Amino acid sequence: MNQGQTPYADALNAFSGRDLVRVIVPGHGAEGGGVPERLEHFIASKPFHKDFTPLLTGLDKGDGNPLDQAKELAAQAWKARRVWFLTNGASQGNRITAIALRGLGEHLLAQRSTHSSFVDGLVLSGLTPEFVLPNLDLKRGIAHGVSAAAVEERLAELTEPPVAVYIISPSYFGAVADVEGIATVVHSYGLPLIVDAAWGAHFGFSSSVPENPINLGADLVISSTHKLGGSLTQSAMLHLAEGPFADELEPLIDRAFGLTQSTSENTWLLASLDIARHFLVTGEERIAASVQSADSLRQLVRENPYLDLVEDSFAEFLDILTHDPLHVAIDVSATGVSGHELKEYVANEHGVYFEASTHNSVVALLGAGAMPDASRIMESIDQARKVLGHSSLATTDLTELGIPIPAAGQRRMSPREAFLRDHDLVPASEAAGRISADTLAAYPPGIPNLLPGEEITQETVDFLSAVAASPGGFIRGAVDRSSSHYRVVKG
Ligand SMILES: Cc1ncc(COP(=O)(O)O)c(C=O)c1O
Repeated sequence: MNQGQTPYADALNAFSGRDLVRVIVPGHGAEGGGVPERLEHFIASKPFHKDFTPLLTGLDKGDGNPLDQAKELAAQAWKARRVWFLTNGASQGNRITAIALRGLGEHLLAQRSTHSSFVDGLVLSGLTPEFVLPNLDLKRGIAHGVSAAAVEERLAELTEPPVAVYIISPSYFGAVADVEGIATVVHSYGLPLIVDAAWGAHFGFSSSVPENPINLGADLVISSTHKLGGSLTQSAMLHLAEGPFADELEPLIDRAFGLTQSTSENTWLLASLDIARHFLVTGEERIAASVQSADSLRQLVRENPYLDLVEDSFAEFLDILTHDPLHVAIDVSATGVSGHELKEYVANEHGVYFEASTHNSVVALLGAGAMPDASRIMESIDQARKVLGHSSLATTDLTELGIPIPAAGQRRMSPREAFLRDHDLVPASEAAGRISADTLAAYPPGIPNLLPGEEITQETVDFLSAVAASPGGFIRGAVDRSSSHYRVVKG
């Protein structure tokens, strides 16, 4: 290798010069209405002069310093008692949450389809989870959310009282749960409700998008500001609501924040959070314009005989109260091209970057204020259909695999204990009865089938092998592509 080269920096430089349609995070979209003007000026002028180490008087040191003021303004904007600025994403928010909750006790009730960063938090904290299953769209192979009734049913049957309930809303596909109804149930058990609202940083800042979860009764909200809120990648926030749990949670969160945050917080990221807050509170019209732009894309999708909108099936799912209009999930089944192939093709050939794909869908995300070129998006999909449309698109209908999604195996030890113990690697044929050291999630539908500490059952092995062998199926966390081996706790 040639030490004179800077391959990543050069590639990034070249990439940044491409003419792209970015319906992908970060939501600022690089240009146009999604970029906060103040952030553009901030970065454009003397960027190195704004790169400082922390603890400087006049910036972030001393009572009432400007960084504290920025956080206070954010707390006011999100109607929170207190906001923490995070420079390691909502992933850090999830880890902080798990560590802080461990200060209240050992058990937790969580939606099974948590982001991997929350499972990491369980490993770090030693918190022991019980789960409530999300609704599943078996035809499309995607997981939605949980209903108030499902949460109530699980709370009623738990033998170990949990310290809190943890849910995710909105989903990757924009499905929004009945946070208010769930909060009522959770509060009736005297517990706080934690909402991972990573995809909803813009909620509550326009009448055209759903309400901020804090206004619906959530006690702690994890928010990935960079996703749709206009800040720089990796910047995020944690919002603590005023309410009966705030006094107890606040010092626990503070300690967990100290445990997870770098001692050299990046000033650009912090400033971008301050600016994104301003962008959102002044953004009613901008957000409404983005919703209109998303609606134009929806209209084109509805008019196209090869495409459907995933959200048109949301009414079938009792957990979905409403949806975020800035998520446009497109079912591409009838194009004859898989979502994964299509996403790759339109990015490489047409510079159109979707946020995500499943076997039969692609997800477009519009940041608050963004107005992407809908006709270019549609043209690229049409081209993908014409060029690749004869590749075989097998169904993701999991019922056609003939193997039902297995129930979670019995928990034999905490995720933390299983993660930290010595491990063996065993072939799939010898895995049943052993304790998993890993988190394994089959896509579709992307909910963890195994967590560290859970017993591996034959049903789970059969299901994971079947999904791994199906076209487009893959197992996140598996030792290899065909899920031929399992990492298990030794002994
Ligand atoms: C539900 C959910 N929570 C948390 C995260 C982590 O967010 P970040 O990338 O800001 O760390 C993600 C990332 O995709 C997510 O989907």
